[in-house]
Amino acid sequence: MGEAGGIPSRRGTTMRLTLHCRPQEERPPIQRYKKGGSVGGVCYLSMGMVVLLMGLVFASVYIYRYFFLAQLARDNFFHCGVLYEDSLSSQAHTRMELEEDVKIYLEENYERINVPVPQFGGGDPADIIHDFQRGLTAYHDISLDKCYVIELNTTIVLPPRNFWELLMNVKRGTYLPQTYIIQEEMVVTEHVSDKEALGSFIYHLCSGKDTYRLRRRATRRRINKREAKNCNAIRHFENTFVVETLICGVV
Ligand SMILES: *[C@@H]1O[C@H](CO)[C@@H](O)[C@H](O)[C@H]1NC(C)=O
Repeated sequence: MGEAGGIPSRRGTTMRLTLHCRPQEERPPIQRYKKGGSVGGVCYLSMGMVVLLMGLVFASVYIYRYFFLAQLARDNFFHCGVLYEDSLSSQAHTRMELEEDVKIYLEENYERINVPVPQFGGGDPADIIHDFQRGLTAYHDISLDKCYVIELNTTIVLPPRNFWELLMNVKRGTYLPQTYIIQEEMVVTEHVSDKEALGSFIYHLCSGKDTYRLRRRATRRRINKREAKNCNAIRHFENTFVVETLICGVV
């Protein structure tokens, strides 16, 4: 009995509420539309700002790179020092230091290295040219005053642009982080009489000096002291490691 009486009254209440609420529901879409419009405006404005800022950033990066690189392109002379673990010495874990002057000629595509007299008997002083255009390396052993020429080994020698970048990266610290040494052994093969065929850079380095061709000796063995007496060593670097070039069979 109570149920039958209660339902109609609830329905009545619901209907009245529904009718009362309709006008309020009609307004919100207009408000939402207005809000949506202003949000869209802010969005376009900030996108515009982002595009503008990105343009500014790219422009300043470009200007910075242009002036920075233009200045550094003239900066092709480096005095370098490197600390390395001398695994070739009889004493284990000997820390050695190697200094050299490097001149990098990006346009002519060659590198010139001067190794001064080493302080602790780490090889001979030398002038070295890596000519990437000719694909040749020349060592001028200053203490013997002799020149040695061999094919450029691109797995050991970084090309001018890459070597320059490596040196620029360490320039602030002056020293490369401590590194290691590898050894390569060369044998004198023949006397070179036509030095002009070696290209003008090597020609200028070797003119007036006895010049020999070298051949790489493929070997993994360690060179013992007695054999090494017939060899001259030049320690240098043009990569992240130091190379000892042994020139053997020196007449
Ligand atoms: C270049 O040097 C590496 C390391 O010493 C050696 O393994 C390789 O045989 C050399 N390549 C040439 C062409 O001499």
